[in-house]
Amino acid sequence: MNAQELIDTAKKLVASDKGLLAMDESTPTCNKRFAKVGIPQTEEMRRTYRELIITTPGLNESISGAILSDETIHQQKKDGTPFVEVIAASGIMPGIKVDAGAKDMAGHPEEKITEGLDGLRERLLEYVQLGARFAKWRAVIVIGDSIPSRGCIEANAQALARYAGLCQEAGLVPVVEPEVLMDGGHTLERCFQVTEEVLHTVFDQLYRQRVMLEGVLLKPNMVLPGLSCPKQETVDEVADATVICLLRAVPAAVPGITFLSGGQSSELASARLNAMNGSLKSRLPWALSFSFARAIQQPALDIWQGDEANVLAAQQALYHRAKCNKAARRGEYNAAMEQS
Ligand code: 13P
Repeated sequence: MNAQELIDTAKKLVASDKGLLAMDESTPTCNKRFAKVGIPQTEEMRRTYRELIITTPGLNESISGAILSDETIHQQKKDGTPFVEVIAASGIMPGIKVDAGAKDMAGHPEEKITEGLDGLRERLLEYVQLGARFAKWRAVIVIGDSIPSRGCIEANAQALARYAGLCQEAGLVPVVEPEVLMDGGHTLERCFQVTEEVLHTVFDQLYRQRVMLEGVLLKPNMVLPGLSCPKQETVDEVADATVICLLRAVPAAVPGITFLSGGQSSELASARLNAMNGSLKSRLPWALSFSFARAIQQPALDIWQGDEANVLAAQQALYHRAKCNKAARRGEYNAAMEQS
């Protein structure tokens, strides 16, 4: 492990107000999104869609790194150029999702544990050879009447920390993603409490597993009320709660926090990120950035619909969302940008 290289890569991923584009949906998840808009669920359609994304003109103005899946990192453009080459040539760093998915956790009804540690050291070496510079592992925490349990939080936090240690050993910056889901009727206060506990546990485990925090990015949820909670706080209230929670739980040594969007609308995700980077910015020891999948891609996918004739319009929509989120990092996003 070259510590300085890891630090430089992590810093670069959050530099210049850029953020990450998560385009690492597993095959079943990508197929589910295709099915919703009537796109055939084939490997060739997934390849074509990913080619549309990575060839979007000007994407590198707002995006510093793109997270790929195992299928996508092995794919090529129609003309045979490997995706990784296309991405790197545009000045975007290729990243790779390395977990094997969140599975039902034994003895813990309704809870999930993320798998994928077996053989991870060898897989990471292969991804480094393919050109990956950073990696991602997602843990899923569900809020319910009597969950999450300590057992679930601790097992997921330890897996995240072991993954992060192996990534740093291989020279990859680990993006550590403990996602507290938005599903449910819970309040913002409950999400705050669970997120705080999860983050404390994750950072305790990162410390125990000797992970160098300067070479890590955290990818958390924002602190939000559940999707079906009757009380939905304002943009500023969400921004306040999220920043207070992160200030309590995330060490200042971490260079950047790159939020997931988690099912928020594209506009709300941008507005909330913008609010955190506005009047609260002077209180932040880390860069507050984005690593959105749906909140960047969804409008483009809706426009594309699998039709070659819609590629340019879809790329414009993708470019626009990336640009809105770059503006949000500066606290310069506003509703008027959505009209332009
Ligand atoms: P969303 O932004 O759609 O939540 O996806 C982010 C992600 O990478 C989930 O692992």
